[in-house]
Amino acid sequence: MVLFGLIGFPLGHSWSAAWFTEKFREEGGSNRSYHLFPLKDISEFPQLLQSHPGLKGLNVTIPYKEKIIPYLDELDETARSVGAVNTIQINHNNEKILTKGFNTDAPGFLQTITDPIPRCPALILGTGGAAKAVAYVLEEKKIAFTFVSRRKQGSRIISYQDLSSEIISQNRLIINATPIGMYPDTDDFPPIPYHFLSSQHYLYDLIYNPPETQFMKRGKAMKAMTMNGMQMLINQAELSYKIFLDIH
Ligand SMILES: NC(=O)c1ccc[n+]([C@@H]2O[C@H](COP(=O)([O-])OP(=O)(O)OC[C@H]3O[C@@H](n4cnc5c(N)ncnc54)[C@H](OP(=O)(O)O)[C@@H]3O)[C@@H](O)[C@H]2O)c1
Repeated sequence: MVLFGLIGFPLGHSWSAAWFTEKFREEGGSNRSYHLFPLKDISEFPQLLQSHPGLKGLNVTIPYKEKIIPYLDELDETARSVGAVNTIQINHNNEKILTKGFNTDAPGFLQTITDPIPRCPALILGTGGAAKAVAYVLEEKKIAFTFVSRRKQGSRIISYQDLSSEIISQNRLIINATPIGMYPDTDDFPPIPYHFLSSQHYLYDLIYNPPETQFMKRGKAMKAMTMNGMQMLINQAELSYKIFLDIH
């Protein structure tokens, strides 16, 4: 059996496990299976590799997308630039296990930046792994952006309290890269001044469960356009699948 899986903590119901299991079934990969590996601490990672010699690939989720990096032998260029890994390719060379980290969130997000998403200055809510992948893509696309954070400050990072009418009107693309509003906390929403939004705004939530978050609902109430993270999720999974099976 060739094994693939997901590391993170905690791991409840997993969209990835369902998606990969179905994908392997569809593509005739009956010798492939996808498992959940909840790791209480990232230091358990080397032992996981040793105890599962059939492991060929792993996805990485909250909270390890950045913490996994020191444990990997190699990083691909995008993962190194983003500073976060969500896909690991595992190879065996005689007795040695070789791991290479990739980031498919960035190209998965890039593929969704099509019309009618405005190419205008953007706010990225959050400063974690997903926010870094989004920032990498906006930089590549030459779209100016500012991070919004609860505590960090700097030339490119502002706080939620800084979000004035002027800043909201200057930044018509607002991307939620925080977990606020994600199942099961579906009544929560990022604390931005929604009353300053207009039909000129585009609210992109990276969250996919629920399909319509409070962030999106509050934007819609101000006539803003909205999008959830489902297409990005599918894109990054398709790209991970290709990395796992070395499909070029
Ligand atoms: N659709 C997709 O394919 C896709 C891919 C990746 C991630 N995502 C989603 O994107 C979201 C973020 O993922 P991530 O891996 O970057 O998560 P993360 O590292 O846990 O959090 C991202 C950032 O959100 C902010 N944050 C966290 N908890 C918060 C809270 N209670 N209130 C306000 N801000 C908070 C923090 O920024 P500050 O400390 O600077 O405030 C944190 O760095 C998740 O919902 C994830 O499911 C979706």
